Amino acid sequence: MKLSIFGTGYVGLVSGACLAEVGHNVVCMDVDPIKIDKLKAGILPIWEPGLEALVERNVKEGRLHFTTDAAQAVQHAQVQFIAVGTPPDEDGSADLQYVLAAARNIARHMSEYKVIVDKSTVPVGTADKVKQVILEELNQRGSLSSPDPQSPSLDPPFAVVSNPEFLKEGAAVNDFLKPDRIIIGTDSEQAKAIMRELYEPFNRNHDRTIYMDTRSAELTKYAANAMLATKISFMNEMANLAEHLDADIEQVRRGIGADPRIGFHFIYPGCGYGGSCFPKDVQALTHTAKQVGYDAQLMQAVEAVNNRQKTTLFTKLSQHFGGAAALKGKTIAVWGLAFKPNTDDMRAAPSRILMEALWQAGAKVQAFDPIAMPEAERIYGQNTNLVLYPDKYAALKDADALVICTEWQQFRAPDFAEMKTRMSNKVIVDGRNLYQPHKLHAEGWAYLSVGRATM
Ligand SMILES: NC(=O)c1ccc[n+]([C@@H]2O[C@H](COP(=O)([O-])OP(=O)(O)OC[C@H]3O[C@@H](n4cnc5c(N)ncnc54)[C@H](O)[C@@H]3O)[C@@H](O)[C@H]2O)c1
Repeated sequence: MKLSIFGTGYVGLVSGACLAEVGHNVVCMDVDPIKIDKLKAGILPIWEPGLEALVERNVKEGRLHFTTDAAQAVQHAQVQFIAVGTPPDEDGSADLQYVLAAARNIARHMSEYKVIVDKSTVPVGTADKVKQVILEELNQRGSLSSPDPQSPSLDPPFAVVSNPEFLKEGAAVNDFLKPDRIIIGTDSEQAKAIMRELYEPFNRNHDRTIYMDTRSAELTKYAANAMLATKISFMNEMANLAEHLDADIEQVRRGIGADPRIGFHFIYPGCGYGGSCFPKDVQALTHTAKQVGYDAQLMQAVEAVNNRQKTTLFTKLSQHFGGAAALKGKTIAVWGLAFKPNTDDMRAAPSRILMEALWQAGAKVQAFDPIAMPEAERIYGQNTNLVLYPDKYAALKDADALVICTEWQQFRAPDFAEMKTRMSNKVIVDGRNLYQPHKLHAEGWAYLSVGRATM
């Protein structure tokens, strides 16, 4: 089948490459000409495991194309995906301007029946808004009064489908190719049949598709992210409590995870959730609730707990040195800048809250991340109090302390003896509980982790 995708970011590019990989012919459209030029030259704007090879192969085999030309994208296919950003507005609501602009663009150029698929994460009711915007645009063009002769019975000559995306950055290609579920929200039987055919290659083993109405599909995405964010904030709340009670959250984690109703997945304590999804989606859901007169207290608590958790690394560090003022002039090494491993994404990353607080306190940061350093350079390149090092040990040079923000594999079993020779002070603040406190204590380290006894 043919399809087009508006938006070539994490979701649009991964979706485009994976849909091409199973044999569809895909046009990826983006309003950013630099991004499209780079993609045409084989340079990926983001880093995702396996994505580069996938893009290269599908471009080479003629199934994946890039353009800034909306008309070309619309004419290419019956199915038009919208996978543009939905960043938070000032009041926390999802900013729909890019989604609606893409919808208008599709309407401006369509001349036959289209299935318009909202893949962006959008608040409940957005499919109706998209439909409204398209109808307005078609009305302006006078297209509704003269429907396509090929499909004269179609009124309106399009359907809007909600198909939220559940891929995880860092495992996006694998998640898209082997989805746990495919959510299709539509009340149109025709659109449903088209979407079924499109996703057929992903359902070979068993049908993973769940059909529902558009509003429920839209809420499903927010409910999933809100549940995951709640698990994280819950564990962080327990971890903080464990610190006050001299208990060990890692033992507690094993103890509760053994209950199959709870399970071991996604119950790690840490330094707070970040990224482009959980923070904005929890906020947007709270805002949606407010709009309909419902006080979403749990969501507000999840966000508040997370915001506090993101400050704990700085708090632990400053407490260790005897107050924030004592950090002035100190050199702090940071391992991990991305909001989680296997991505270069630093949006809302805990590392940013930490580094900005350190600079505020007058400290210098020496950082290393296996993948996110170009992104750090892009965001903080002007800041002379940030020095990026090419490997994890080099970043420890004369450091007064090391803080671990991201649990990259290569940080799990470092050479502690080597580390000691490089650092001025044997202090580790570990936001991901990577090491055994008793072992580090025995080796003479001051080791501060999350929800475990301080040593
Ligand atoms: N990143 C994730 O892990 C993830 C996972 C699931 C869902 N989502 C959701 O998917 C959506 C996209 O997220 P993302 O991380 O891919 O965003 P992104 O910021 O990486 O990419 C968005 C892209 O859309 C382009 N764009 C903006 N306006 C456009 C327009 N009118 N026409 C064409 N292109 C346009 C931008 O130039 C940009 O390249 C968001 O709603 C997000 O919440 C993201």
